[in-house]
Amino acid sequence: MTRHFLRDDDLTPDEQNAVLDLAAEMKADRFKYKPLAGPRSVAVFFDKVSLRTRLSFEAGIAELGGQPMIVDTHATHFGRGESLSDAGRVVSRYVAAMVFRTTGDERLTELASDVNVPVINALTDGFHPCQLLADLLTIRERLGSPRGRKLAYVGDAANNMAHSYLLAGATAGMHVRVAGPSGFDPAPQVVAHAAEIAAWTGGSVEVLRDPFEAADGVDVLATDTWTSMGQEDDGRDRLTPFWPYQVNGKLLGAAADDAIVLHCLPAHRGEEITDEVMDGPHSAVFDQAENRLHAQKALLAWLLGVNSQ
Ligand code: CP
Ligand code: NVA
Repeated sequence: MTRHFLRDDDLTPDEQNAVLDLAAEMKADRFKYKPLAGPRSVAVFFDKVSLRTRLSFEAGIAELGGQPMIVDTHATHFGRGESLSDAGRVVSRYVAAMVFRTTGDERLTELASDVNVPVINALTDGFHPCQLLADLLTIRERLGSPRGRKLAYVGDAANNMAHSYLLAGATAGMHVRVAGPSGFDPAPQVVAHAAEIAAWTGGSVEVLRDPFEAADGVDVLATDTWTSMGQEDDGRDRLTPFWPYQVNGKLLGAAADDAIVLHCLPAHRGEEITDEVMDGPHSAVFDQAENRLHAQKALLAWLLGVNSQ
């Protein structure tokens, strides 16, 4: 069975740890590892726009000795009738791996349904697991092992980042709290699965309403945009209910003294995060963005390795 990375919980705790160890090694000796030398190609498909994901995959694949093929799917048959399953079967004959940023998770699953090369989730409406590998690498660098550490994610608790913090944080053995306004809660099945994982790893998950209760004493305070890609015209008020969840100096004051602040970016400064916090001494957001590169290189190398065994 080909191993893919479609959701954060596709990696066991040991596997997640192995990928993060490899990412740290790769970061320390950036141009040493060449598992795609040949070069072999990796196709990276985008149904949605991107800066970090696109460029970090493009640079990372090149650094691994491979050839990145960055594809805006509007220029393909993806949107005009060819099934994603057929497209996946075709492209898998050209490449060593596929990466896909899309809308519904079912589109990603369909692309991966009948292929024998690894498929990686580069963000769906449901999850953003590559981002979480970068976040966990950043936590390791700043605070040491994530195991037993407390993390609060505040803001849109129904979005992909909230879901990925729940699953990946629980996998890492963290105590994960998510807090957002009424109507913006995480999917119950994701919370339930994260709780199952946490029971195994010694972590925990909590869904809260009060942002100060969530931030109280945490080691990591994280947020994300209040309006994810594709939600711009959904007719919901995405400002008024969210103001109490802004990551500002007051909310950060509730966290531990040495807490770090994460944001996957792009940030809407003055909305979900203030300049003061984003540019302040607790912010790790630019290391976090850099770590996309190292984490994804490690993920690709690890998947190619396990799939060749
Ligand atoms: N964090 C992140 O995925 O950024 P992009 O949308 O720019 O890729
Ligand atoms: N939740 C955001 C993340 C962007 C990287 C979105 O989906 O737009």
